[in-house]
Amino acid sequence: MHVTGPRLAALPAALAALTLLGAASPPPEQPLRFSHKVHAGDAHIGCTSCHTYAERGPVAGVPSMARCQGCHKFVKEDKENAQLDQELKALRKVLDEGKPVQWARVHRVPDHVFFPHRRHVVTARLECKECHGEVEKMEVVRQVAPLTMGWCLQCHQLPKNRDKAPTDCWACHK
Ligand code: HEC
Ligand code: HEC
Ligand code: HEC
Ligand code: HEC
Ligand code: HEC
Repeated sequence: MHVTGPRLAALPAALAALTLLGAASPPPEQPLRFSHKVHAGDAHIGCTSCHTYAERGPVAGVPSMARCQGCHKFVKEDKENAQLDQELKALRKVLDEGKPVQWARVHRVPDHVFFPHRRHVVTARLECKECHGEVEKMEVVRQVAPLTMGWCLQCHQLPKNRDKAPTDCWACHK
Protein backbone atom coordinates (compact mmCIF):
# COMPACT_ATOMS: atom_id res chain seq x y z
CA MET A 1 0.00 0.00 0.00
CA HIS A 2 1.32 3.45 -0.88
CA VAL A 3 0.68 5.88 1.90
CA THR A 4 2.18 9.33 2.38
CA GLY A 5 2.22 11.27 5.62
CA PRO A 6 0.82 14.78 6.08
CA ARG A 7 -1.59 14.72 3.15
CA LEU A 8 -3.50 11.94 4.86
CA ALA A 9 -3.33 13.38 8.34
CA ALA A 10 -7.01 14.28 8.34
CA LEU A 11 -8.08 10.83 7.17
CA PRO A 12 -8.60 9.11 10.52
CA ALA A 13 -11.10 11.67 11.80
CA ALA A 14 -12.97 11.79 8.53
CA LEU A 15 -13.17 8.01 8.30
CA ALA A 16 -14.08 7.74 11.96
CA ALA A 17 -17.11 9.90 11.35
CA LEU A 18 -18.13 7.94 8.27
CA THR A 19 -17.61 4.36 9.30
CA LEU A 20 -19.12 4.30 12.76
CA LEU A 21 -22.39 3.72 11.01
CA GLY A 22 -21.22 0.34 9.65
CA ALA A 23 -24.03 -2.17 10.16
CA ALA A 24 -23.54 -5.63 11.67
CA SER A 25 -24.05 -8.45 9.18
CA PRO A 26 -26.11 -11.59 9.93
CA PRO A 27 -24.06 -14.51 11.26
CA PRO A 28 -22.79 -17.12 8.79
CA GLU A 29 -24.22 -20.65 8.68
CA GLN A 30 -22.18 -22.97 10.97
CA PRO A 31 -21.54 -26.66 10.15
CA LEU A 32 -22.47 -27.82 13.66
CA ARG A 33 -24.60 -26.53 16.49
CA PHE A 34 -22.62 -24.61 19.10
CA SER A 35 -24.32 -22.33 21.60
CA HIS A 36 -22.35 -19.68 23.47
CA LYS A 37 -25.41 -19.15 25.63
CA VAL A 38 -25.32 -22.76 26.85
CA HIS A 39 -21.53 -22.84 27.38
CA ALA A 40 -20.42 -19.33 28.35
CA GLY A 41 -23.80 -18.30 29.81
CA ASP A 42 -25.64 -21.15 31.54
CA ALA A 43 -22.55 -23.33 32.23
CA HIS A 44 -20.30 -20.31 33.04
CA ILE A 45 -17.31 -21.62 31.10
CA GLY A 46 -14.78 -18.77 30.80
CA CYS A 47 -14.08 -17.33 27.35
CA THR A 48 -10.34 -17.97 27.47
CA SER A 49 -10.73 -21.58 28.58
CA CYS A 50 -11.80 -22.23 24.98
CA HIS A 51 -10.21 -19.26 23.20
CA THR A 52 -6.88 -19.94 24.85
CA TYR A 53 -4.73 -17.84 22.56
CA ALA A 54 -6.54 -14.54 23.13
CA GLU A 55 -4.28 -13.88 26.12
CA ARG A 56 -1.15 -15.29 24.50
CA GLY A 57 -0.92 -14.01 20.96
CA PRO A 58 -2.47 -12.02 18.15
CA VAL A 59 -5.17 -14.55 17.25
CA ALA A 60 -7.81 -15.72 19.77
CA GLY A 61 -8.28 -19.12 18.10
CA VAL A 62 -11.26 -21.46 18.09
CA PRO A 63 -11.06 -24.72 20.09
CA SER A 64 -10.37 -28.02 18.34
CA MET A 65 -12.84 -30.90 18.39
CA ALA A 66 -10.52 -32.61 20.87
CA ARG A 67 -11.42 -29.89 23.32
CA CYS A 68 -15.14 -30.55 22.84
CA GLN A 69 -14.44 -34.23 23.38
CA GLY A 70 -12.54 -33.46 26.59
CA CYS A 71 -15.79 -32.35 28.21
CA HIS A 72 -18.32 -34.28 26.21
CA LYS A 73 -16.75 -37.65 27.09
CA PHE A 74 -18.47 -36.90 30.40
CA VAL A 75 -21.27 -34.51 29.43
CA LYS A 76 -23.13 -36.88 27.11
CA GLU A 77 -26.72 -36.84 28.23
CA ASP A 78 -29.22 -34.71 30.08
CA LYS A 79 -32.04 -36.69 31.59
CA GLU A 80 -33.86 -33.57 32.77
CA ASN A 81 -33.94 -31.72 29.47
CA ALA A 82 -35.12 -33.66 26.44
CA GLN A 83 -33.95 -31.09 23.91
CA LEU A 84 -30.43 -30.83 25.32
CA ASP A 85 -30.32 -34.60 25.54
CA GLN A 86 -31.12 -34.90 21.85
CA GLU A 87 -28.47 -32.31 20.90
CA LEU A 88 -25.89 -34.09 23.06
CA LYS A 89 -26.61 -37.40 21.34
CA ALA A 90 -26.28 -35.77 17.92
CA LEU A 91 -22.96 -34.27 19.03
CA ARG A 92 -21.81 -37.70 20.24
CA LYS A 93 -22.19 -39.02 16.69
CA VAL A 94 -20.10 -36.21 15.21
CA LEU A 95 -17.38 -36.67 17.84
CA ASP A 96 -17.31 -40.44 17.26
CA GLU A 97 -16.80 -39.90 13.53
CA GLY A 98 -13.72 -37.87 14.47
CA LYS A 99 -13.88 -35.57 11.46
CA PRO A 100 -12.55 -32.04 11.93
CA VAL A 101 -15.17 -29.30 11.78
CA GLN A 102 -14.53 -26.16 9.74
CA TRP A 103 -16.26 -23.34 11.60
CA ALA A 104 -17.29 -20.43 9.42
CA ARG A 105 -15.41 -17.30 10.36
CA VAL A 106 -17.58 -14.56 11.88
CA HIS A 107 -15.13 -11.68 12.36
CA ARG A 108 -12.43 -10.81 9.91
CA VAL A 109 -10.42 -7.69 9.22
CA PRO A 110 -8.70 -7.48 5.79
CA ASP A 111 -5.24 -9.02 5.39
CA HIS A 112 -3.53 -5.62 5.34
CA VAL A 113 -4.71 -4.96 8.90
CA PHE A 114 -2.85 -6.17 11.98
CA PHE A 115 -5.03 -6.76 15.05
CA PRO A 116 -3.29 -8.25 18.10
CA HIS A 117 -5.61 -9.82 20.73
CA ARG A 118 -3.09 -10.14 23.51
CA ARG A 119 -2.27 -6.44 23.45
CA HIS A 120 -5.93 -5.54 23.89
CA VAL A 121 -6.97 -8.27 26.31
CA VAL A 122 -3.86 -8.43 28.54
CA THR A 123 -2.04 -5.10 28.20
CA ALA A 124 -5.07 -2.83 27.76
CA ARG A 125 -7.26 -5.11 29.95
CA LEU A 126 -10.27 -4.80 27.69
CA GLU A 127 -13.05 -7.29 28.20
CA CYS A 128 -14.15 -9.42 25.26
CA LYS A 129 -17.54 -7.75 25.37
CA GLU A 130 -16.10 -4.30 24.57
CA CYS A 131 -15.66 -5.55 21.02
CA HIS A 132 -17.77 -8.71 20.76
CA GLY A 133 -20.84 -7.76 22.82
CA GLU A 134 -22.64 -10.13 25.18
CA VAL A 135 -21.54 -13.36 23.53
CA GLU A 136 -22.66 -15.36 26.59
CA LYS A 137 -26.25 -14.49 25.69
CA MET A 138 -25.95 -15.49 22.02
CA GLU A 139 -27.16 -18.86 20.75
CA VAL A 140 -25.26 -18.11 17.56
CA VAL A 141 -22.32 -15.75 17.81
CA ARG A 142 -22.55 -12.72 15.54
CA GLN A 143 -20.56 -9.60 14.89
CA VAL A 144 -21.83 -6.56 16.78
CA ALA A 145 -19.03 -3.99 16.23
CA PRO A 146 -18.37 -2.65 12.71
CA LEU A 147 -14.59 -3.45 12.85
CA THR A 148 -13.89 -0.54 10.54
CA MET A 149 -10.85 1.70 10.71
CA GLY A 150 -13.03 4.46 12.14
CA TRP A 151 -14.16 2.14 14.91
CA CYS A 152 -10.57 1.20 15.84
CA LEU A 153 -9.45 4.82 15.79
CA GLN A 154 -12.37 6.06 17.83
CA CYS A 155 -11.11 4.01 20.77
CA HIS A 156 -7.41 4.66 20.10
CA GLN A 157 -8.08 8.40 20.14
CA LEU A 158 -9.89 8.47 23.49
CA PRO A 159 -8.01 10.72 25.94
CA LYS A 160 -7.26 7.76 28.25
CA ASN A 161 -5.74 5.74 25.39
CA ARG A 162 -4.05 8.42 23.34
CA ASP A 163 -0.58 7.93 24.86
CA LYS A 164 -0.57 4.15 24.40
CA ALA A 165 -2.75 3.25 21.45
CA PRO A 166 -1.20 3.97 18.03
CA THR A 167 -2.82 6.10 15.34
CA ASP A 168 0.07 5.96 12.85
CA CYS A 169 -0.74 4.03 9.71
CA TRP A 170 2.01 1.44 10.00
CA ALA A 171 0.97 0.26 13.46
CA CYS A 172 -2.18 -1.28 11.99
CA HIS A 173 -1.13 -1.73 8.36
CA LYS A 174 1.86 -4.02 7.93
C1 HEC B 1 -16.82 -24.29 25.21
C2 HEC B 1 -15.98 -23.51 24.34
C3 HEC B 1 -16.24 -22.02 24.15
C4 HEC B 1 -16.45 -21.06 25.11
C5 HEC B 1 -16.54 -21.22 26.63
C6 HEC B 1 -16.52 -19.79 24.42
N1 HEC B 1 -16.38 -20.00 23.06
FE1 HEC B 1 -16.39 -18.57 21.63
N2 HEC B 1 -16.34 -20.02 20.17
C7 HEC B 1 -16.28 -21.37 20.40
C8 HEC B 1 -16.43 -22.09 19.13
C9 HEC B 1 -16.43 -23.59 18.93
C10 HEC B 1 -16.56 -21.10 18.14
C11 HEC B 1 -16.74 -21.34 16.63
C12 HEC B 1 -18.19 -21.56 16.30
C13 HEC B 1 -19.01 -20.32 16.33
O1 HEC B 1 -18.62 -19.33 15.69
O2 HEC B 1 -20.07 -20.32 17.00
C14 HEC B 1 -16.51 -19.81 18.82
C15 HEC B 1 -16.59 -18.59 18.19
C16 HEC B 1 -16.44 -17.35 18.84
C17 HEC B 1 -16.37 -16.07 18.18
C18 HEC B 1 -16.45 -15.85 16.69
C19 HEC B 1 -15.17 -16.24 16.03
C20 HEC B 1 -15.09 -15.75 14.61
O3 HEC B 1 -15.09 -16.60 13.70
O4 HEC B 1 -15.05 -14.54 14.40
C21 HEC B 1 -16.21 -15.11 19.15
C22 HEC B 1 -16.08 -13.62 18.96
C23 HEC B 1 -16.23 -15.79 20.42
N3 HEC B 1 -16.36 -17.16 20.19
C24 HEC B 1 -16.12 -15.15 21.63
C25 HEC B 1 -16.32 -15.78 22.85
C26 HEC B 1 -16.49 -15.07 24.11
C27 HEC B 1 -16.43 -13.57 24.27
C28 HEC B 1 -16.68 -16.02 25.07
C29 HEC B 1 -16.97 -15.82 26.53
C30 HEC B 1 -18.15 -14.97 26.84
C31 HEC B 1 -16.60 -17.33 24.41
N4 HEC B 1 -16.41 -17.13 23.08
C32 HEC B 1 -16.70 -18.56 25.05
C33 HEC B 1 -16.08 -21.97 21.62
C34 HEC B 1 -16.22 -21.35 22.86
C1 HEC C 1 -15.57 -27.11 29.53
C2 HEC C 1 -16.52 -28.14 29.13
C3 HEC C 1 -17.14 -28.09 27.73
C4 HEC C 1 -16.49 -27.94 26.54
C5 HEC C 1 -15.02 -27.72 26.29
C6 HEC C 1 -17.51 -28.05 25.51
N1 HEC C 1 -18.74 -28.26 26.07
FE1 HEC C 1 -20.53 -28.48 25.08
N2 HEC C 1 -21.51 -28.54 26.85
C7 HEC C 1 -20.92 -28.46 28.11
C8 HEC C 1 -21.97 -28.40 29.12
C9 HEC C 1 -21.76 -28.31 30.62
C10 HEC C 1 -23.21 -28.46 28.42
C11 HEC C 1 -24.63 -28.39 29.01
C12 HEC C 1 -25.13 -29.76 29.27
C13 HEC C 1 -26.51 -29.72 29.89
O1 HEC C 1 -26.92 -28.68 30.42
O2 HEC C 1 -27.17 -30.76 29.86
C14 HEC C 1 -22.87 -28.56 27.00
C15 HEC C 1 -23.81 -28.69 25.99
C16 HEC C 1 -23.52 -28.86 24.65
C17 HEC C 1 -24.48 -29.16 23.61
C18 HEC C 1 -25.97 -29.39 23.82
C19 HEC C 1 -26.65 -28.08 24.07
C20 HEC C 1 -26.97 -27.38 22.81
O3 HEC C 1 -26.50 -26.26 22.65
O4 HEC C 1 -27.65 -27.96 21.97
C21 HEC C 1 -23.80 -29.20 22.43
C22 HEC C 1 -24.37 -29.46 21.04
C23 HEC C 1 -22.41 -28.94 22.73
N3 HEC C 1 -22.28 -28.77 24.10
C24 HEC C 1 -21.40 -28.88 21.78
C25 HEC C 1 -20.06 -28.59 22.07
C26 HEC C 1 -19.03 -28.43 21.07
C27 HEC C 1 -19.23 -28.53 19.57
C28 HEC C 1 -17.87 -28.17 21.74
C29 HEC C 1 -16.49 -27.88 21.19
C30 HEC C 1 -16.41 -26.74 20.27
C31 HEC C 1 -18.17 -28.17 23.15
N4 HEC C 1 -19.51 -28.43 23.30
C32 HEC C 1 -17.25 -27.97 24.15
C33 HEC C 1 -19.58 -28.45 28.38
C34 HEC C 1 -18.56 -28.28 27.44
C1 HEC D 1 -10.35 -4.38 21.09
C2 HEC D 1 -11.34 -5.25 20.46
C3 HEC D 1 -11.36 -6.73 20.79
C4 HEC D 1 -11.31 -7.35 22.02
C5 HEC D 1 -11.21 -6.71 23.40
C6 HEC D 1 -11.43 -8.77 21.77
N1 HEC D 1 -11.53 -9.00 20.42
FE1 HEC D 1 -11.75 -10.80 19.50
N2 HEC D 1 -11.64 -9.90 17.66
C7 HEC D 1 -11.50 -8.54 17.45
C8 HEC D 1 -11.26 -8.29 16.05
C9 HEC D 1 -11.01 -6.93 15.42
C10 HEC D 1 -11.27 -9.55 15.40
C11 HEC D 1 -10.98 -9.86 13.92
C12 HEC D 1 -9.49 -10.14 13.86
C13 HEC D 1 -8.96 -10.59 12.53
O1 HEC D 1 -9.69 -10.74 11.57
O2 HEC D 1 -7.73 -10.84 12.47
C14 HEC D 1 -11.53 -10.54 16.44
C15 HEC D 1 -11.63 -11.93 16.23
C16 HEC D 1 -11.88 -12.86 17.24
C17 HEC D 1 -12.03 -14.28 17.01
C18 HEC D 1 -11.94 -15.00 15.66
C19 HEC D 1 -10.59 -14.90 15.07
C20 HEC D 1 -9.48 -15.32 15.97
O3 HEC D 1 -8.68 -14.44 16.37
O4 HEC D 1 -9.38 -16.48 16.32
C21 HEC D 1 -12.26 -14.85 18.23
C22 HEC D 1 -12.47 -16.34 18.51
C23 HEC D 1 -12.24 -13.79 19.21
N3 HEC D 1 -12.02 -12.59 18.57
C24 HEC D 1 -12.43 -13.99 20.58
C25 HEC D 1 -12.19 -13.03 21.54
C26 HEC D 1 -12.20 -13.28 22.98
C27 HEC D 1 -12.49 -14.63 23.63
C28 HEC D 1 -11.91 -12.09 23.60
C29 HEC D 1 -11.71 -11.83 25.09
C30 HEC D 1 -10.75 -12.70 25.77
C31 HEC D 1 -11.71 -11.09 22.55
N4 HEC D 1 -11.88 -11.70 21.33
C32 HEC D 1 -11.43 -9.75 22.77
C33 HEC D 1 -11.56 -7.57 18.41
C34 HEC D 1 -11.50 -7.78 19.79
C1 HEC E 1 -12.10 -0.41 22.89
C2 HEC E 1 -10.81 0.16 22.56
C3 HEC E 1 -10.02 -0.35 21.38
C4 HEC E 1 -10.49 -0.78 20.14
C5 HEC E 1 -11.91 -0.87 19.68
C6 HEC E 1 -9.32 -1.12 19.37
N1 HEC E 1 -8.18 -0.92 20.10
FE1 HEC E 1 -6.27 -1.25 19.47
N2 HEC E 1 -5.55 -0.68 21.29
C7 HEC E 1 -6.32 -0.19 22.32
C8 HEC E 1 -5.44 0.19 23.42
C9 HEC E 1 -5.89 0.80 24.76
C10 HEC E 1 -4.12 -0.08 23.00
C11 HEC E 1 -2.82 0.14 23.76
C12 HEC E 1 -2.46 -1.07 24.59
C13 HEC E 1 -1.21 -0.81 25.40
O1 HEC E 1 -1.34 -0.31 26.51
O2 HEC E 1 -0.14 -1.11 24.87
C14 HEC E 1 -4.23 -0.64 21.65
C15 HEC E 1 -3.14 -1.06 20.90
C16 HEC E 1 -3.20 -1.47 19.59
C17 HEC E 1 -2.06 -1.81 18.77
C18 HEC E 1 -0.61 -1.71 19.19
C19 HEC E 1 0.07 -3.04 19.30
C20 HEC E 1 1.55 -2.86 19.24
O3 HEC E 1 2.19 -3.86 18.98
O4 HEC E 1 2.05 -1.74 19.43
C21 HEC E 1 -2.54 -2.15 17.52
C22 HEC E 1 -1.74 -2.59 16.30
C23 HEC E 1 -3.97 -2.05 17.58
N3 HEC E 1 -4.34 -1.63 18.84
C24 HEC E 1 -4.82 -2.31 16.51
C25 HEC E 1 -6.20 -2.18 16.55
C26 HEC E 1 -7.07 -2.44 15.42
C27 HEC E 1 -6.60 -2.83 14.04
C28 HEC E 1 -8.34 -2.22 15.87
C29 HEC E 1 -9.62 -2.35 15.11
C30 HEC E 1 -9.82 -3.56 14.29
C31 HEC E 1 -8.26 -1.85 17.27
N4 HEC E 1 -6.96 -1.83 17.65
C32 HEC E 1 -9.37 -1.58 18.07
C33 HEC E 1 -7.69 -0.09 22.35
C34 HEC E 1 -8.56 -0.44 21.33
C1 HEC F 1 -5.99 1.55 14.78
C2 HEC F 1 -5.76 0.84 13.53
C3 HEC F 1 -5.64 1.61 12.24
C4 HEC F 1 -4.85 2.70 11.99
C5 HEC F 1 -3.96 3.47 12.97
C6 HEC F 1 -4.99 3.01 10.59
N1 HEC F 1 -5.86 2.09 10.01
FE1 HEC F 1 -6.40 2.04 8.03
N2 HEC F 1 -7.65 0.47 8.39
C7 HEC F 1 -7.85 -0.11 9.61
C8 HEC F 1 -8.85 -1.16 9.48
C9 HEC F 1 -9.38 -2.06 10.59
C10 HEC F 1 -9.21 -1.19 8.11
C11 HEC F 1 -10.20 -2.18 7.44
C12 HEC F 1 -11.62 -1.81 7.69
C13 HEC F 1 -12.04 -0.64 6.91
O1 HEC F 1 -11.82 -0.63 5.67
O2 HEC F 1 -12.56 0.32 7.52
C14 HEC F 1 -8.45 -0.15 7.46
C15 HEC F 1 -8.53 0.14 6.11
C16 HEC F 1 -7.73 1.09 5.46
C17 HEC F 1 -7.73 1.32 4.03
C18 HEC F 1 -8.53 0.54 3.02
C19 HEC F 1 -9.88 1.13 2.86
C20 HEC F 1 -10.65 0.32 1.84
O3 HEC F 1 -11.69 0.84 1.43
O4 HEC F 1 -10.25 -0.79 1.50
C21 HEC F 1 -6.84 2.32 3.77
C22 HEC F 1 -6.46 2.91 2.43
C23 HEC F 1 -6.28 2.74 5.07
N3 HEC F 1 -6.86 1.95 6.06
C24 HEC F 1 -5.35 3.74 5.22
C25 HEC F 1 -4.85 4.16 6.44
C26 HEC F 1 -3.96 5.31 6.60
C27 HEC F 1 -3.45 6.18 5.47
C28 HEC F 1 -3.68 5.40 7.93
C29 HEC F 1 -2.85 6.45 8.65
C30 HEC F 1 -3.33 7.82 8.52
C31 HEC F 1 -4.39 4.31 8.59
N4 HEC F 1 -5.08 3.58 7.66
C32 HEC F 1 -4.33 4.05 9.96
C33 HEC F 1 -7.20 0.20 10.81
C34 HEC F 1 -6.30 1.24 10.97
